Amino acid sequence: MRLNSLKIVLFTLAIMMVAGVVLAEEKAETEKVQSGKDLYKERCKPCHMEDSDNGEYTPMTLIQEQWEEFFDDYWTETHGKVVCPKDEKKMVTDMWDADMLKAVRKFCVDHAADSEQPMTCG
Ligand code: HEC
Repeated sequence: MRLNSLKIVLFTLAIMMVAGVVLAEEKAETEKVQSGKDLYKERCKPCHMEDSDNGEYTPMTLIQEQWEEFFDDYWTETHGKVVCPKDEKKMVTDMWDADMLKAVRKFCVDHAADSEQPMTCG
């Protein structure tokens, strides 16, 4: 009887451990998809590389306040009529949801010219 309950406890613990590993992996996966740096690289940089007609922009092109202002006041205005290179029926702004914008905004602000770690995005 006692041995049986011990088995049940061990079995339950084993299941919990497996579930924990699976959940942790899933979490890492979503975080990877939503990293602000990856978003910037994939979805901002192509239009704002060196010598680009649209102007060269990396996080350290602007100071933190200018990035905040850009995302608060000018994002929709400046990118709402720019056609998305991957789907010509859509505008650049259509390709971003609130979470993605939040992530890329954080990346820009955290690595702005006046931040502790100014950065281009590689
Ligand atoms: C399809 C190309 C394209 C993509 C993608 C794109 N931009 Fe732009 N961006 C432009 C163009 C075109 C302008 C110039 C708009 C204008 O002059 O009104 C611009 C202007 C800007 C400006 C200057 C705005 C100003 O006030 O003059 C900044 C900053 C900027 N982009 C940052 C970004 C960031 C950050 C991303 C990604 C979140 C991004 N862009 C994605 C094409 C793009």
